[in-house]
Order: sequence, then C-alpha cells, then structure tokens
Amino acid sequence: MTTKGKPVKDKHRGKTTRDGIRIHEAADFAGMHKAGELAARILDEVADHVFVGQTTGELDSLIENKVNAAGATSATIGYKGYQHASCISVNHVVCHGIPSDKKLKDGDILNIDVTVVVDGWFGDTSRMYVAGKLSRKAERLIQVTHDSLFKGIEAVKPGNTFGDIGNAIQTYVEAQRMSVVRDFCGHGLGRVFHSPPNVLHYGRAGTGPVLEEGMFFTIEPMVNLGRPETKVLADDWTAVTRDKSLSAQFEHSIGVTSDGCELFTLSPAGRFHPTWR
Ligand code: MF3
Ligand code: CO
Ligand code: CO
Repeated sequence: MTTKGKPVKDKHRGKTTRDGIRIHEAADFAGMHKAGELAARILDEVADHVFVGQTTGELDSLIENKVNAAGATSATIGYKGYQHASCISVNHVVCHGIPSDKKLKDGDILNIDVTVVVDGWFGDTSRMYVAGKLSRKAERLIQVTHDSLFKGIEAVKPGNTFGDIGNAIQTYVEAQRMSVVRDFCGHGLGRVFHSPPNVLHYGRAGTGPVLEEGMFFTIEPMVNLGRPETKVLADDWTAVTRDKSLSAQFEHSIGVTSDGCELFTLSPAGRFHPTWR
C-alpha cells in the first residue's frame, strides 16, 4: 500500500518466503537478543522464589513486576483474553497453565513460560523448576525434554528443513520411551508473537520449509512420560495430558545465522537447566 508519492510506513515490510516466513536483517538480531535476554533473566530470578507452599499466582505477580520494572511489556497480558504475565504448568499440565492461589507441593515440577516485548521485539522462553524434592522419574523426564530441545537446535542451519528439527526431537524422545505432544508447536516470532511457520516437534527429515538465514522462531517441545494426547480444560487455556502422566517443556527463541543459529534466550546466570540447584 502506498499513498501518492510517499511509501506508507510499515514495520512489517520486507522479505517473506512463500510459506509466509519472515526473513530478518542482520540488525534485527540485536533487538531479539535484548528481548530474549530480559525474558531469560526474569526466569533466572524467579528460580529463588519456587518452593513448597509458594503459589503460582505469587510467582506470576513477581514476574509481572519484573517485566514492568525493566520498562518492558508482557506479551501475554491481553493476548486472546489471557490475563497473566506467565503460564505456569504444574505436573500433568502440558502448557498454558493459569497462575492461581494453589500452593506448590513437595515434588511438584513446573514449567514457567514468559514472553516480553522490548522495543517491539518479542522474547519467548520457558523452562522447568522443582518445588522440594525431585523424584527420579520427574528428573529423567526433565533431562530428556531439555536434551530434546538441544537435539532440535543442533538441526538449525540454512539448508536443513523444519522437518529435520521435528524429526531430531521425536527420534530422541521416543528412543527414551517418552512421547512428544502433537497438539502444540513452536512458532515464528520477531516483531509479532506468533507467525509462520508452525514449528512441529515431530515429523520426517527433509520435509517442511527450508531454513534460511534471518528466520526467527521458537522451539518448545512438550514431552510426556505417558501418551501424547492432551485435552484443554473448561477454562479454555489449561492443557493437560489425557492420561494424567507428567509433562515437561523447555523453550528457546532462536535466529538462523549463515552457518547455524543464535539463541536469543540464553540464561545470563546459567540457570536454564534445573540441575544448577
Ligand atoms: N508463551 C507461549 C508460547 O510459547 C504462549 C502463551 S500465550 C498465553 O507460545 F496467552 F497463554 F499466555
Ligand atoms: Co512460544
Ligand atoms: Co512461551
């Protein structure tokens, strides 16, 4: 669209592939690093507040305050009617758990997912936490889920396909006799929260769009100890495993470079994996 003589300002103009995937410029990586680092730092800081008896609502308030203190905006407050600065998914909750006044119990595992907007760029990351004593089976689930994300990340380079990412994750997870959730996926992001492509955490090598330098997206595998099926509760958000088995998730925001990728949401304190405790 143009008005006579002068181009309309459009922050979304520029190159997109035939699949609708935006190709960002070199200068755009800096904006993503700034947004991603804030989201990751908030997740670092919240770790000290996860303990038995704590409520997920209190954790969410802490997160909202940290987003505001940084002069950033929460991407999730007001998103499709969602009212919180984080999703907190406990035990058999797969994703989109709504913070509440329910207290954490000994041995609970939880994913905290935060998305912030800094100077118009979106930073989206999540990781696992534990209240009290971690059981052996939960520890194994968390380890496999974490490592599956990095199997996916290893497949990110120009010339590979999105199917290569999904295949790397699925192959690894299923070899550990766990299952990959099909009902939710990663997504393109940048100056928007969710954009093409759908980043599936399963699939066949060599299928799907080809990765190109300048693509920004998340990889956020959800892994279940039991079957992969999920259902969404009556609140229209909370997704749980149908068989009530434990579920875990890790998420990074990633940019494709000329020879691989950069992680925008690296933990400044090295606290991405819960074994830092
Ligand atoms: N951060 C989530 C993601 O990884 C999206 C949460 S949307 C919300 O894509 F509304 F549930 F917060
Ligand atoms: Co995401
Ligand atoms: Co997220």
